[in-house]
Amino acid sequence: MADQWYTVDAYLNALFAPEDVALEETLQSTVEAQMPLINVAPNQGKLLQVLAHTVGARRILEIGTLAGYSTIWMARALPADGRLITLELQPDYAAIARTNIVRAGLGHLIDIRVGPAIETLPVLAAEQHVFDLVFIDADKESTPAYLAWALKMVRAGSLIVIDNVVRDGAVADPRSADERVQGIRRGLELLAQTPGVTATALQTVGIKGYDGLAIGVVNALD
Ligand code: SAH
Ligand code: DHB
Ligand code: MG
Repeated sequence: MADQWYTVDAYLNALFAPEDVALEETLQSTVEAQMPLINVAPNQGKLLQVLAHTVGARRILEIGTLAGYSTIWMARALPADGRLITLELQPDYAAIARTNIVRAGLGHLIDIRVGPAIETLPVLAAEQHVFDLVFIDADKESTPAYLAWALKMVRAGSLIVIDNVVRDGAVADPRSADERVQGIRRGLELLAQTPGVTATALQTVGIKGYDGLAIGVVNALD
């Protein structure tokens, strides 16, 4: 079955999400620096781009930069005066991401903030940012905390996307000993139960294996 997931993803990616040199070099930099190869798939990056266009995103927040692969897909939906703030714990990853983003011609749109996201998010809230799209894709244990901060920095109509919510099906085990699974479960509960947010979650298969994503739209803020 997994063979077929790959074949179909290759077909869909070639059709909808071909990678240009900037994206190819971003993946190459990930391998060369021995960073984990856990960027979104091309068609998932393109989905983020579609969603950014859908909300007419001018301000995007990403939590978890890695080499900037998903960053580049999303930033390509921004207008010339748009802005994407992306949060990364590792200074060496952030430096590589900056090189990739500049090479993609997007340096003027992107602000990489280095450090633990749990420390950067209150700073962003104090700066009174309002984001049209938030992509949560960092340490899974902290997903509920990141979502809680995201909810303070959105408007009616904003989208919030959470990556890796299925993890080979582990998410359905309430007794999982994996803190990452428990973090995703609590994050999904918060997303599902927050008044004024309409949300769902979907399972996905493809070159990233069996996983899923959650998406919520903010209708009203209290
Ligand atoms: N969004 C990227 C993949 C991100 S991988 C893409 O699809 O291309 C997750 C990233 O989150 C890693 O780079 C990791 O270093 C970073 N991360 C992990 N813990 C973090 C934390 N506490 N604060 C900020 N970033 C963190
Ligand atoms: C992992 C993290 C991700 O963001 C991802 O898309 C896939 C895997 C991980 O930590 O294993
Ligand atoms: Mg991910």
